[in-house]
Amino acid sequence: MSLNLLLLPGDGIGHEIATEVVKVIDCLNTHFATNFVVEQEKIGGSGYDAYGSPCSDGVLEKAKQADAVLLGAVGGSKWDNLTFDKKPERGLLRLRKELSLFANLRPALCFDALAESSSLKPDVISGLDIMIVRELTGGVYFGEPRGITRHNENNATAIDTQIYSTNEIIRIGKIAFELARKRNNKVMSAEKANVMQTGILWREEITKLHLAEFADVELSHIYADNAAMQLVRNPKQFDVIVTDNLFGDILSDVAAMLTGSLGMLPSASLGALDHEGKRSAMYEPVHGSAPDIAGQNKANPIAMILSFCMALRYSFNLDNIALIIEQSIQNILQRNIRTGDIANKDSKIIGTKEMGDEIIAEMRGLK
Ligand code: IPM
Ligand code: MG
Repeated sequence: MSLNLLLLPGDGIGHEIATEVVKVIDCLNTHFATNFVVEQEKIGGSGYDAYGSPCSDGVLEKAKQADAVLLGAVGGSKWDNLTFDKKPERGLLRLRKELSLFANLRPALCFDALAESSSLKPDVISGLDIMIVRELTGGVYFGEPRGITRHNENNATAIDTQIYSTNEIIRIGKIAFELARKRNNKVMSAEKANVMQTGILWREEITKLHLAEFADVELSHIYADNAAMQLVRNPKQFDVIVTDNLFGDILSDVAAMLTGSLGMLPSASLGALDHEGKRSAMYEPVHGSAPDIAGQNKANPIAMILSFCMALRYSFNLDNIALIIEQSIQNILQRNIRTGDIANKDSKIIGTKEMGDEIIAEMRGLK
């Protein structure tokens, strides 16, 4: 049975890191008896250039048919002047919404070998292992009404709408509690119930859900601003953080930087289980398209490859293979072979392609 992946490299460094993940997948098919079939399509700015839309209907249909979608990154100044609905980011948001990928899992894991690359002291972050569970299809990202009313040349009013309903909060809450049970059994729910109505409802619903179904999990509530502060003060106090779309966007960038490099962090965006026990899923690095280094063989492909590892776990039940790839990456970092973004003064600095080659060689060695 073939495992069908839709690969959407996107823009900027998305292309280079996608090439490396394809090498990893080819290695699995050749040496690890998997049967991945990869189809490539265009999304974001590249999608606009090819189809006039950052996520065309054709691409969306292929994404729906695939067992999982792997996405590189979107965006770049080339597309800055497009109208709002043609911008590369809209392609990503359309995919999230139309595939109902409401649960965004963003692990922030500090590889031992990189503890010294963080801007925080090594003892504050070594061994760090946090999971941020971000609601991804609601809140201010999609709430209506939204828009800018231009009153005259010098005056305008802009509006965005933050909106959440019971079901949206409960379904993301369940994901967080279930994940916590497989980890350190702690959930921190972050909102701003002190100033926002959505925050008040969020806290109420999470509290009810906890009492009804997850009383065995330790739950606490935190204001999102305090969560940001605690993340840089003492990040190891966290296990699972559950939060809305906008706060999750911000807190996951903070958490990402704790680990030493944005170039290391994967993410999974999951939909609900259907009646056959399958769910739609998209996997992508947390970092962006880094136009400043695109095409220079400098990008770190590890976040992309770790995103594929998340696909192995959450979409394909191939945890054993994910472990081999993750171990390969650890071994290479341990030998201080690095791309520039995670290098220290003693590192052997290599490029994107060479990092891909190293990982594959290591995987074959661990087989
Ligand atoms: C992310 C990104 C996106 C977001 C952008 C590119 C639309 O920052 O995935 O975190 O804000 O969700
Ligand atoms: Mg973000």
